[in-house]
Amino acid sequence: MLQRIAELKKEKNAVILAHNYTCPELQDLADHTGDSLELSRIASKTDADVIVFCGVHFMAETAKILSPEKTVLIPDKNAGCPMADTITIEKLRLFKAMYPGVPVVAYVNTTAAIKSEVNVCCTSANAVNVVRNIDSDTVLFVPDRHLGAYIGRQIPEKKIICWDGCCPVHNRILATDVINKKKMYPGALVVAHPECPADVLELADIIASTSGMIREIKNSDKNEFIICTERGLIHQFAKNSPEKSFINVNPVNVCPNMKKMTPEKLLHCLETMTDEVVREDSVIKNAAKALERMILY
Ligand code: 13P
Ligand code: SF4
Repeated sequence: MLQRIAELKKEKNAVILAHNYTCPELQDLADHTGDSLELSRIASKTDADVIVFCGVHFMAETAKILSPEKTVLIPDKNAGCPMADTITIEKLRLFKAMYPGVPVVAYVNTTAAIKSEVNVCCTSANAVNVVRNIDSDTVLFVPDRHLGAYIGRQIPEKKIICWDGCCPVHNRILATDVINKKKMYPGALVVAHPECPADVLELADIIASTSGMIREIKNSDKNEFIICTERGLIHQFAKNSPEKSFINVNPVNVCPNMKKMTPEKLLHCLETMTDEVVREDSVIKNAAKALERMILY
C-alpha cells in the first residue's frame, strides 16, 4: 500500500499534509506534519498540483482557499470539527449585529463562509499576536470560548467578547485529571493546548499550539510531561524527544474526526481523486483576505 501511495503521489505530483492529531501511520507517511498554521503556510506555497490534506475538513478547506488553483483532496469529507459547527453564517451575522463596528477574529476552526465575513483569522499558534495587533479595544472572537478567554488573560487591556463554542475533546479534560496525574508524577511538567478549560490551563507549565508543544518539550531540560491535548500528538513528542516520557492526562482525549483519516482512505483518495474540496469563487476570494492576514503573523 505504501509503495502504491508513493507511485500515485509521483504520478499526480501530489503532496501529503497531515495534522499532528492524525494516526501515527499517516503522520509517518506524510510529506509534512504540523499544526494548523504550519500546514496552512505549506499549502499556500507548495508547487505540487494536488494537495492531499489528512486532517479535519476546515483544514483542507483552508488549503483550498490559500491555493485555489490546486486540486485539494481530503481522504474523508465527513471529518468535521464539532467546534467549527457551533457557529453558522446566520448566527455570525446576528452576533456582529449586536456589536456594530467591532472587529471579528475567527479561529481557523471555522467554515469558509465564516472566514469570508470576518476581519482576520488566527490559529492557536498566533491568536494572541493577531488579537494584540487589532486596532480596537474590543474584539469579537469566534467560536472557541476557552481560546478566547485565554487570549483575554494575555491581553487584559482588551475586551474579548467570545462566541460560546468549544472543542469537545479538550473540554473533557478536567483539572481533577491533571491534579491526580501531578500527584502520581510530581516532577512532570504539564503541557496543554489553549483549547482546554481555564482551570486546566491554570495548572499548565507550557501552553502552546500542537507544534509549539513539540518544540517546547524538545527544548526543555525536564524529562516527564503530562499531556493535556489530543493523544495523536504523543507520536510526534516521542519522535522528536525519544529520551523523554509522556503521561496522557486522560484516555478520553481522542478526536474521532481526525481518526477518520487512514492510509487505506488516503490510497483510495489518490486513486479516485476524491473527495475534492470545492467552494464558490466569491467565498474563496473573501475568505482568502482573512487567511492571508493570518499567515503573516
Ligand atoms: P493546532 O493549530 O494547535 O494544531 O490545533 C488544531 C486543533 O484543531 C486543535 O484542536
Ligand atoms: Fe475540532 Fe477539537 Fe478535533 Fe481539534 S480536536 S479538530 S478542535 S474537535
